[in-house]
Amino acid sequence: MTIQPSNTPLLEWAGDSLAIGLFEDAVELTGELATLDQKFSGVLKELIAEEEFKGKANSTIFTRVGTGSGVRKVILVGLGKLEALKLDTLRRAAAAVARVAKKQKSKILGFSFPLWNNDAAASAQAIAEGVELALYQDIRFKSEPEDKGTQLETVELLGFSGEEAAINRAQQIVSGVILARQLVAAPANAVTPITLAETAQAIANEYGLQLQILEREDCEKLGMGAFLGVAQASDLPPKFIHLTYKPEGRPKKKLAIIGKGLTFDSGGLNIKGAGSGIETMKIDMGGAAATLGAAKAIAQLKPDSEVHFISAATENMISGHAMRPGDILTASNGKTIEVNNTDAEGRLTLADALVYADKLGLDAIVDLATLTGANVIALGEDIAGLYTPDDAVASELEKAAQTSGEKIWRMPMEEKYFEGLKSGIADMKNTGPRPGGSITAALFLKEFVKETPWAHLDIAGPVWTDKENGYNGAGATGYGVRTLVDWVLGTGE
Ligand code: BES
Ligand code: MN
Ligand code: ZN
Repeated sequence: MTIQPSNTPLLEWAGDSLAIGLFEDAVELTGELATLDQKFSGVLKELIAEEEFKGKANSTIFTRVGTGSGVRKVILVGLGKLEALKLDTLRRAAAAVARVAKKQKSKILGFSFPLWNNDAAASAQAIAEGVELALYQDIRFKSEPEDKGTQLETVELLGFSGEEAAINRAQQIVSGVILARQLVAAPANAVTPITLAETAQAIANEYGLQLQILEREDCEKLGMGAFLGVAQASDLPPKFIHLTYKPEGRPKKKLAIIGKGLTFDSGGLNIKGAGSGIETMKIDMGGAAATLGAAKAIAQLKPDSEVHFISAATENMISGHAMRPGDILTASNGKTIEVNNTDAEGRLTLADALVYADKLGLDAIVDLATLTGANVIALGEDIAGLYTPDDAVASELEKAAQTSGEKIWRMPMEEKYFEGLKSGIADMKNTGPRPGGSITAALFLKEFVKETPWAHLDIAGPVWTDKENGYNGAGATGYGVRTLVDWVLGTGE
């Protein structure tokens, strides 16, 4: 599929489907659209009246228009209220259009969309992202593709002449999102700590990034007892992945992105029971997936900040070697942890990754983790929890999420709740009481970052969607990649 700008005037455009974005309560066809309607013998006006189309965000209607006009079908898509227009409105509307066009077996699709904020580049990028993200299908594990239907071949953005670079940026970012989706969607017998390290190697090779993989022995030397405690029951070797992007010249900032990389979470000896979703726990490397997806995108976008992509990758399994509930582990900063629940394993792996990143002398660290069910209870499936003591990093991430359309919500770091993690025998326990479970998890992580401004995103909800949602199909969403990219680009300003 090619996405390209077009300078063909609306009235002259020819192709299979022409998509027109209309604002809510402003669906009267005036000016150029009135002329277009005349060209189509008034069929648009009829359609709007018949379907009682009001322009509500993401509502779509379509009709066949007279042959001979050069256009087979017109798709009208609602953009909501003009004053509420966001970049993400365009992205979602473009996704809705792409799905309709595909169902209609369109090969050539034209977009006549307004600009967000008079910004042609950002608007073109959002439309291209919406189309690409909505149409992506994962057929890697099917012996035969089910969907043999007509595919979109050409998408033209009318009035976006000169925005090739913006469309190219969209495609670079989408390649990262799709990598993240593929990593999360692949089962735990396909994506392992070994293959995650191989994926990092492939990115390093393709784009010229530096890569360091710390093996078990290297991690032992660094005293990463928390990470290795989680890894000790798996038959697969743990891999501590550290991929680095360095810009040409002096970096404006030095940043780290850390992703929880549990390629499978059985719960360990506190095994996940029936109804716990154990069969979905291949998703527990969603943080690492977003990290590697962001690396792929950032390596192509070449921002002027240095970025470290880190994941302590392992499985949480059961064997005679497994850590026992009650065992005490020592993390690489010397802190001792009483493991009162082996299913709170993500924070143990992140502890050593955070200590490692904290020593790199960076301006900021963001970690992403499918950390707690409690975060899903608090914020639902669509919204990630943002936990940070640092207001500056918080607002950078909130701004980035606003641009990307990925929803985040800042949660409190209630210091008093740390009492729930107090241990009679070690420095702390890894699990507090059920109430506020996502907050105590974040407070636990905070113990392992001392030098660097840091934020934690709990992505247990949005990493996956059971049903089609905006530009996400059912399944892995690639959540986090676009926000991370916007964050890295934005902090370089
Ligand atoms: N990987 C899970 C969290 C999770 C839950 C991710 C649902 C995605 C969807 C994590 O390792 C875990 O098991 N957390 C426990 C913590 C508890 C033992 C304190 C949880 O949330 O129940
Ligand atoms: Mn767990
Ligand atoms: Zn987990």
